Amino acid sequence: MERILLKPGITIRGRWYGGEYRVIKLIGSGGTARVYLVRDLSDGRKYALKLGSDMAGVEREYKVLSSLSSIDYVPRVYVRDDCTIEGRKRFFFIMDYLEGENLKKLCSTRRIPQGTTVEAAAITAVICLFLNHRGLYYCDIKPENLVFDKTTGNLYLVDFGGVVGAGQPVTQFTPAYDRAGWGSGQRVADESYQIFAILMMLVDLLLDGIPEVGRDLEALKQRVNKTRLSKGLKKVIIKGLDVENHSLKGLVSDLRRVLRMADGVGEGLNQCSTDVLINAGLAASVAFFIMVLVFIL
Ligand SMILES: Nc1ncnc2c1ncn2[C@@H]1O[C@H](COP(=O)(O)OP(=O)(O)O)[C@@H](O)[C@H]1O
Ligand SMILES: [Mg+2]
Repeated sequence: MERILLKPGITIRGRWYGGEYRVIKLIGSGGTARVYLVRDLSDGRKYALKLGSDMAGVEREYKVLSSLSSIDYVPRVYVRDDCTIEGRKRFFFIMDYLEGENLKKLCSTRRIPQGTTVEAAAITAVICLFLNHRGLYYCDIKPENLVFDKTTGNLYLVDFGGVVGAGQPVTQFTPAYDRAGWGSGQRVADESYQIFAILMMLVDLLLDGIPEVGRDLEALKQRVNKTRLSKGLKKVIIKGLDVENHSLKGLVSDLRRVLRMADGVGEGLNQCSTDVLINAGLAASVAFFIMVLVFIL
C-alpha cells in the first residue's frame, strides 16, 4: 500500500477520540510505518505519532506498549485512533517523544566510545530479559530501534510491532543479525536468537559494519579475533555466537565483566566529554537493571 508522507503543519484528527495533532516533522521511518513529532493541540505538548496503513500491526504494537507502561525504558503510549488522510484510512497511536537519536544515527554521526556501545548492548539484553519474563520476545534488535533520550541519557527500546511469544516464528528481523540467515539456528523467538542479534549488533557498531564474508560465521569470528578489540570482549563475542544455550543473564554478566576489566574495551571509556550524559545515563541504567535482575527475575 502506498505510504503517505505528511508535511509539517498538517493537522491529524483522530476519528474516535477527536484528538488533534499538528505535525512538526518526520522523525523516522522503518519497514512498516512512519513516526512523526507532533504537537497535541489540546495540551500543547510534543508527542511522537506512529502512523501506518496496517491496522492489525498498529493495534498489536499499541497493545504491547500499553502492557509495558510501567517500564521506564519503553515509551509510554496514550491514544490509539484512526484518521483519514487524502481520502485514505490510516491508523496511529500517540507515545512519548524521546528527544534524541537512535543508536545507528548516533554512531554514524559521532565517535561513540566502545564502552558506551558495550553498555548499550548490556542494557538491550536486560530489557529483553525483562520482557521475556512477561512472555514478550523482542527479536528485531537493531541500532535503529534503540533511542537515546538526551534529556535523561536513558536508552529506550522502540518498535514493538514484531514482538512474539516464546518459541514462535520471528517475523520482523534484520537479515545481518538473524541467526537463521547465518545458518546458525532457527528463526524462532528464544534467548539464543536475541543473544545472536545483540552480538551481531555489537560487531556491526564496533567494527563499522559486518564484514562481507558471505554469511560465513567462522570467517566472521576469525575477523573479530584479528581486530584490536580487547581480549575479554572478543572472547564474549566469539563464545556468544558459538554457544547455542548461552543465557541472556550470562551475556549481561560477561559484558559487565568486560566493562570492569582493566583492559576494558580497548579505548576511551571515559574519554569523550561530549558523551558524558549518555555515559552517566547508561551507567545508571545498568545499575538499575542489575537491581531489577536481582530482585525481580
Ligand atoms: N517515541 C519515539 N520518540 C522519538 N523517536 C522515535 C520514537 N519512536 C520511534 N522513533 C524513531 O523513529 C524510527 C522509526 O520508528 P519505528 O517504530 O522503528 O518504525 P518502524 O516500525 O517503521 O521500523 C526509529 O528508528 C527511531 O529513530
Ligand atoms: Mg524500526
